[in-house]
Amino acid sequence: MDILHSVTELRARLAGETRISFVPTMGNLHDGHIHLVNLARQHGDCVVVSIFVNPLQFGPNEDLDNYPRTLEQDCARLQAAGADVVFAPSVSEMYPSAQTMTISAPPIADSLCGASRPGHFSGVATVVMKLFNLVQPQVAIFGKKDYQQLSVIRELVQQFNLPISIIGGETVREADGLAMSSRNGYLSPAQRQEAKRLHAALQLVKQAIQKGNHDYPAICEQTRQYLTQLGWIVDYIEVRAASTLQPATATDTQLVALAAARLGKTRLIDNLEFDAS
Ligand code: PAJ
Repeated sequence: MDILHSVTELRARLAGETRISFVPTMGNLHDGHIHLVNLARQHGDCVVVSIFVNPLQFGPNEDLDNYPRTLEQDCARLQAAGADVVFAPSVSEMYPSAQTMTISAPPIADSLCGASRPGHFSGVATVVMKLFNLVQPQVAIFGKKDYQQLSVIRELVQQFNLPISIIGGETVREADGLAMSSRNGYLSPAQRQEAKRLHAALQLVKQAIQKGNHDYPAICEQTRQYLTQLGWIVDYIEVRAASTLQPATATDTQLVALAAARLGKTRLIDNLEFDAS
């Protein structure tokens, strides 16, 4: 496995590769990331993983400085998982001059996480566009854990005619249902115990709908109150059409319930796809 830090080295290493599958990450890798690497191995001959904590997608009061950086451990995990190339550039390598040209995110980025994280999806789309241009993969894998991000990337590829197939990997969870995330490490033991309720709350939304209740706003409001009583600060809980991420109507059959909520300073997100009936 080659661990490369510069654009020049990366381009030289990848010249001549014709079936590249790519997994972009911010590092501090867990089983969710490794699941995506395993998928990547099934879709290409050369598996490239990037590790880059992208300043452009963090808001001024977010956790950019504290975001865990664990390159050595990450590389050991990637080697064991069969990755071929790790691209781990510095901030100045990715942004040698101010990134004054950016991708503006599509309308689906305005609500849900976009509402509480202004500029976040523009930062994600911009770095992913740069990474796509550097790696030039045939296939790229993103997790459904970040469901809205996956939708934004699909729009990016479609609207800019990028010759890249996007594959969504299922969310990998801890035994109690908590979606794996680098941010879970910020939780105190008591918060970690509580954290499983976010997934449980989404299951309640799903069950209410599958029992025939189609008053989605009322179900979400009840669930918000339930989590708030348990000490969560809820950013949103919503039911959307799975394919478009538009607010769900009674005629939509494939739904996704999405939530973002905070325990103390730690913001967790999760979602659940299901059939309406
Ligand atoms: P990061 O949070 O490191 O996630 C990298 C990829 O792993 C994303 O596609 C994310 O959806 C996926 N992932 C995270 N947790 C997962 C889980 N529990 N199960 C399955 N997949 C999971 O997302 C980013 O980095 C950045 O925004 C990035 C796309 C790299 C752009 O900077």
